[in-house]
Amino acid sequence: MGKDIGIDIGASTVSVYLKGQGIALNEPSIIAIDKDSGNIVKIGEEARLLTGRTPGNIAILRPFRNGINIQYDILTKMLAFFVRKVCGSRIFKPRAAISVPSDLSQGEERLVTEAVLAAGIKKVYLIDETIAAASGAGLDISLPSGNMVINIGGHMTAISVISLNKVIVSELLQTAGDSCDEAVISYLCKSHNLTVREETAEELKKAIGIIQQSDRQPEIKVHGIGYYDGLPRTISLSQNEIAEALTVEADMIAGAAVSLLEKTPPELIADIKKNGITLTGGGAMLPGLSRLIGEATGIKTELADNPPICAIMGVGSFLDRLSELA
Ligand SMILES: Nc1ncnc2c1ncn2[C@@H]1O[C@H](COP(=O)(O)OP(=O)(O)OP(=O)(O)O)[C@@H](O)[C@H]1O
Ligand SMILES: [Mg+2]
Repeated sequence: MGKDIGIDIGASTVSVYLKGQGIALNEPSIIAIDKDSGNIVKIGEEARLLTGRTPGNIAILRPFRNGINIQYDILTKMLAFFVRKVCGSRIFKPRAAISVPSDLSQGEERLVTEAVLAAGIKKVYLIDETIAAASGAGLDISLPSGNMVINIGGHMTAISVISLNKVIVSELLQTAGDSCDEAVISYLCKSHNLTVREETAEELKKAIGIIQQSDRQPEIKVHGIGYYDGLPRTISLSQNEIAEALTVEADMIAGAAVSLLEKTPPELIADIKKNGITLTGGGAMLPGLSRLIGEATGIKTELADNPPICAIMGVGSFLDRLSELA
């Protein structure tokens, strides 16, 4: 029998879940392409290892940084690669459940489905990423009771109010992990005349990123290039400076949660006040973010356990029930 698999293709990470076994693969959503031929030469972790080490004709790209729906060929090739890596070359094609952003149009859904089928999958189930994340965070979303989930990924934040396994109202914004990295880059440029690479900004964010100012003032050395003279320089950056750099992004996410609550039916608001708000996705891991959202909404807000894997775990739990559903 072919194995059933769950797939979460994120802007930052691709995860594959094997039915009955758990997460079988977690790799960066990166490809290396040959600029002359346009061919993909490496995918995932193998492509990441080439970062900063490539000859001029090889480019390292993050193809889904603006969503998975616009790169049909690349999506198919990456999926085929990862499916083969997890399932081996089997005669029987697997079925797959895949999480997708909730703003896909019907046409885009069709395109994603076709790309998955072309990658050697025999049947595809699309699952809204916030539904998957809520379920992977351990919420019982099958009840007639409102839950608010804020999934902060690499390129997108999706906020959904969910009841009876359905998204009732939602809000999507392109403020998420990547835009936080960009905010750090632009802060360093403006305040320290220092140019740093995206990877450096992301490392800084993960190492000392914080949302609200604190009395502790850990500092970190940052290596970059002088904005005016182009010469290598090292500066010292404090944690409160990162907090300052991330203020706008954090306020946008908290503001979007408040405005979604304004569009939420009162009965569900009462439920959410009781159940609280749950944060999922890697971008939610900034210390202080849950507190900020809690203060802005007046509702208890908690970070899920292991936020980056909530979506794939939710896809997995759907998959584990798949024989009943198919
Ligand atoms: N400890 C951390 N602190 C802050 N941010 C983090 C941390 N760990 C991961 N991130 C950020 O989480 C983001 C990736 O999250 P996630 O893996 O949920 O995204 P994705 O599912 O690939 O993207 P999307 O859902 O937008 O397609 C990145 O921006 C990364 O920098
Ligand atoms: Mg995601």
